[in-house]
Amino acid sequence: MAEAAKILVVDDEIIVIKSAERVLSAEGYHVEGALSGREAILKMEQNNYNLVLTDLKMPEVDGITLIRWMKKSKPDIGIVIITGYPSQDTIKEALELGIIDYVPKPFTPAALVDVTQRALEWVKGKVYVEEKPKEEFPPSMLNELDRIIKEYKNKPGCLIPVLQRAQEIVGYLPPIVQKRISKGLNIPTAEVHSVVSFYSFFTMKPRGDHNIRVCLGTACYVKGIEGVLSKIREALKIDIGETTENRKFSLEGVRCLGACGLAPVMVIDQETYGAMTQKKALDVISQYEPTILKSTASEEIEEEIAEKEG
Ligand code: FES
Repeated sequence: MAEAAKILVVDDEIIVIKSAERVLSAEGYHVEGALSGREAILKMEQNNYNLVLTDLKMPEVDGITLIRWMKKSKPDIGIVIITGYPSQDTIKEALELGIIDYVPKPFTPAALVDVTQRALEWVKGKVYVEEKPKEEFPPSMLNELDRIIKEYKNKPGCLIPVLQRAQEIVGYLPPIVQKRISKGLNIPTAEVHSVVSFYSFFTMKPRGDHNIRVCLGTACYVKGIEGVLSKIREALKIDIGETTENRKFSLEGVRCLGACGLAPVMVIDQETYGAMTQKKALDVISQYEPTILKSTASEEIEEEIAEKEG
């Protein structure tokens, strides 16, 4: 079992530390607290942490000073700021220093868990990139990416179109691609990362050759998409948001695909498939990759499905 990620929460309000501890420990993280920047530095000198969540306004050593120290002495630790009413300048300064994200106080448990998960993915991505540099991206791909960056550079609002084109070229937007774009467009990495995390059409995980989108809208739900989805998950051995090991398929859950009359609906790449049943979904997917379903869509299973669906 993987070791739990270690998180340090730095805030001069004990209640903030306690509530973050409660929420994040329940998610399986190892959480410690520090009531000042000074205490945080002492702790970081003695322990290894994956992520630090820090307030900005603290007496003596404030958050910005702490972030500067971390960037110099502990550059591998991810940083997220938790803050009440930051000025735009402070946020800008923190972003320029390379924080991953920020979460406003008071935070909801869901917002804290979400930002923590994303930040830890970012930290993992950094380590991954450092361990296995570039091997996934052929020079032709990177050249094309650089060409796009050059084409859009200095144009107002260039970041989103460049990210879209980059995703078309590479298939997803891992940290190494985000960094290349950040450098090429001269936009802070943290800003690029915030945009990628904000829009659901950007993905930081590799997608498969075929993207399966299953509609979870009301009409499809009423017509039984849940059963279809669980059959697809079982057959491909992946959950929503994941990609099969052989990178053949990715699975997404989406809200109303605008084809309610055909409910329940799934879309593979650009092709819409309506009136899905569990069996039909397996048949359609096997048109794209017959072997992957051999083990699951045996005659026996098909019969069982047909029986259940009447
Ligand atoms: S609810 Fe599924 S297509 Fe509209």
